[in-house]
Amino acid sequence: MAADLANALISGVSPAGEHYYPALPYPNYTGMRIEDVRDLYAYLQTLPAISGRPPPHDLPLLFRIRRLLGLWKLLFFDAGGSEARLNGDPVHDRGAYLVEVLGHCDDCHSTRNSLGAIKPSTRFAGGPDPEGTGFVPNITPSRIGQWSETEIAEILMSGRTPEHRRVGSSMVDVVSNITQLPQSDRLAIARYIKSLPARPTPHP
Ligand code: HEC
Repeated sequence: MAADLANALISGVSPAGEHYYPALPYPNYTGMRIEDVRDLYAYLQTLPAISGRPPPHDLPLLFRIRRLLGLWKLLFFDAGGSEARLNGDPVHDRGAYLVEVLGHCDDCHSTRNSLGAIKPSTRFAGGPDPEGTGFVPNITPSRIGQWSETEIAEILMSGRTPEHRRVGSSMVDVVSNITQLPQSDRLAIARYIKSLPARPTPHP
């Protein structure tokens, strides 16, 4: 049901009433507009049903006890909240929604504490790649400040950076999804990330 999807995305709670692991980025999706959840549900209904089981979780010890997730949520989850900073410019504010809520860019582009929560002083400033080796780059103006909105939109369209590199690793999937958005959305994302507070790259 659409209500189950809304509970999962906005509250991090399963249809059986259990807490989800924050690997489902509900700390971001909690800011979703209900009409977008409804549209997403309608889209998911059009996909062919595939039977199968998800692979087992590989989780830090704390999270092996699902009940403890309630404690994690108490500490780190702000239901219905969003880090989006709005300023009344519709392009910037659209970018805020795409970056902070739907795109959950901070999920990868930040450093986490030992409980797996993002350290606020490192949001968007980069961190160890959660998917394995390497370092996810800083995307605050400390690093991308010289790049124009058009250049950033180009990274999100083709994966090519102004330094003539091509983004790799998990950013490849992000780009292939964002490619499907209208150019106005890529420009909105660019405007918003250029407006982020400049933060130094953390040293892990
Ligand atoms: C699943 C993890 C993940 C998510 C989510 C993610 N990124 Fe990335 N991003 C990466 C990685 C890893 C790289 C480094 C790729 C490389 O250089 O090979 C990267 C690179 C980038 C770069 C290039 C920076 C540089 O210095 O070259 C930009 C810009 C960027 N991401 C923006 C975003 C934006 C905007 C979002 C949200 C819409 C986002 N990313 C979401 C993992 C992610």
